[in-house]
Amino acid sequence: MLFSTRLLSLPLALGYPASYNNIDCSGLISTPTYGLKDANFSICATIHIKAPVHKVCNVILDFHRYKDWNTFVYDAIPPDGVDGPEDVRLGMNIQFSSTGIPPGQNSTATDIITFVERPFFAAWKNIEFEEFIGHSEHCLLFLPLPNGYTRFTHWQTQLGANGRTLYPVKADFQREFEFEARDLKTYVESMS
Ligand SMILES: *[C@@H]1O[C@H](CO)[C@@H](O)[C@H](O)[C@H]1NC(C)=O
Ligand SMILES: *[C@@H]1O[C@H](CO)[C@@H](O)[C@H](O)[C@H]1NC(C)=O
Repeated sequence: MLFSTRLLSLPLALGYPASYNNIDCSGLISTPTYGLKDANFSICATIHIKAPVHKVCNVILDFHRYKDWNTFVYDAIPPDGVDGPEDVRLGMNIQFSSTGIPPGQNSTATDIITFVERPFFAAWKNIEFEEFIGHSEHCLLFLPLPNGYTRFTHWQTQLGANGRTLYPVKADFQREFEFEARDLKTYVESMS
């Protein structure tokens, strides 16, 4: 792909699969914790942001600030003592409040941090209500591009025997993931 030839060189020792660097947001997309086992659907959005990767990654890990920029996940509450992106650790519970799935409806979910590989990759999983909606993992990838740009890509795959329960709201999920990517770009590019 044209895109991959334009990547700057990445560190050799990354814990997430190197194939993620070529994700094109189509079809079912694997996640680091679950792979593709019993995957029902993926949603994915990607955007180029005029800022270096560490800056974009820090905004995604700065949960207290979601209310300042994110129209999809309008609030995010990390554990006590987590004041900024540098405090985020594996295994932490983050409470996310989101809107739009389906339109006009708000919901709250608690995800568990599964990967933090600053400034290139992060992920969190949701295993609440497994018997009703299966499980999922939300992956966030920050790829350095020439001229100080970042290619931000985030995806979520719904898996498990009951992962298909949420299939009817797949299009809503997809739309909100695109909004979130656009909101992130607008916010990061407006920071001084
Ligand atoms: C996901 O679930 C929907 C609804 O049950 C079904 O139509 C679709 O074939 C499933 N997709 C996969 C990949 O299992
Ligand atoms: C959803 O949350 C937003 C932000 O807190 C709030 O303004 C809105 O009234 C809520 N909508 C519903 C249907 O609860």
